[in-house]
Amino acid sequence: MSRLRVALAKGRLYQPSIARFRAAGVEPANDAGRRLLIPSSDPAIEFLAVKPGDVPVYVESGAADLGITGTDVLRETGADVLEPLELGFGFCRLVVASPGSAPYPQLEGGITARVATKYPRLAQAHFGAAGRPVDIIQVNGSVEVAPLLHLSHWIVDLVDTGNTLRANGLVERETILECGAVLVANRASQKLKLEEYLRLMEKLERAGQPPE
Ligand code: PRP
Repeated sequence: MSRLRVALAKGRLYQPSIARFRAAGVEPANDAGRRLLIPSSDPAIEFLAVKPGDVPVYVESGAADLGITGTDVLRETGADVLEPLELGFGFCRLVVASPGSAPYPQLEGGITARVATKYPRLAQAHFGAAGRPVDIIQVNGSVEVAPLLHLSHWIVDLVDTGNTLRANGLVERETILECGAVLVANRASQKLKLEEYLRLMEKLERAGQPPE
């Protein structure tokens, strides 16, 4: 029997991911403490908890066989992985937002907009495709503060409830991407561990269906 190693993103997708595995009958060990490789009730499955942005890296390289990540992170990294299952949670959208008090998209004096984001590739691609030059400023969190402090004019960031935008005087201007959690798989290990892979896929799929 081969073991499947599953990379889970720490953060907002972590608990729903664990809940889906639990519903599929795979319980992570609760005595794992600070261990980052977590055994489960199924000897064929172990978990790995990593930063959200690292899930595609682990899965693409084969260090993990499977992973759960958001389509935002997946498209940003451009990782070459299989995407066998949309999981139906973690819905949000990647948007352009700017201060409600300032006109958009015009900027005084025709200057080039500075855009703060954790998603430099997706942001650049969005504005580039529209032929709108921008200067991207990469930050790693708390993006909404950037316009308040004049670090940037606009931001590109995730919106779920919209509370963070509103609390910081920002208004959603354009949607770049609708996002959600997906199961991703390493191309080679999907073939090499096909039996275990199909068994887990079926359980996860069934666990995600509404009760009859
Ligand atoms: C995410 C995202 C927004 C916020 C959106 O940040 O980057 O800041 O959540 O959620 P809302 O629309 O429900 O307010 P996260 O909490 O992951 O922290 P971060 O800013 O450090 O990335």
